[in-house]
Amino acid sequence: MPLLQTLEASAPTATLPATTRRIVLTGFMGAGKSTLGRALAERLGWAFLDLDHHLEQRAQATIPELFTRHGEPHFRRLESSALASALAATSTVIALGGGTPEVHTNRLLLEQTPGTIILFLDAPFPVLFDRCMIQALQSTTTQRPVLSDPAAAQARFLTRQPIYRRLATHTQQTADLTPAATVDALLAALTLRP
Ligand code: S3P
Repeated sequence: MPLLQTLEASAPTATLPATTRRIVLTGFMGAGKSTLGRALAERLGWAFLDLDHHLEQRAQATIPELFTRHGEPHFRRLESSALASALAATSTVIALGGGTPEVHTNRLLLEQTPGTIILFLDAPFPVLFDRCMIQALQSTTTQRPVLSDPAAAQARFLTRQPIYRRLATHTQQTADLTPAATVDALLAALTLRP
């Protein structure tokens, strides 16, 4: 392939408002935060940061290990500190954990870090739960301790929905879109911002 064509094919395809420093993806487990975040970052020519992964690297332990050894409250404290560190990144798409916005401190951090656009990836609970079950069958690395009790997971979903919605700059429905079409819709929403 000629060099010019190669460069054109890999060039970023969208320009954001100049004030945008980072884009944060939020939503319940199975919303596609990591997959779509990676794809969105690629389209923007930006870096990608997965908060769960960032936390695991800082703690030198996996999320299931942290839940088993120290319990959820300890995990949430580590998550807040990982979030504060992640929000220092610029030109970066950040995928949160599904429970990150439930913690008040985390919402303040997100709302008070200038240049932060928050996108909520929304879908009905049965769609999200099925996606998580399929991921769990396909991968040994995607273990989610808070999904072990489906009724409790649904209760968390209902509690979190209004929190995600209130926090978000933009809500994107994902259930009926392919990942590529979802990224296109997110880019359209971002570049149309004033
Ligand atoms: C959690 C979601 C997970 C991870 C942890 C807790 C939650 O992230 O942070 O297992 O409380 O919803 P994903 O949403 O990336 O699976």
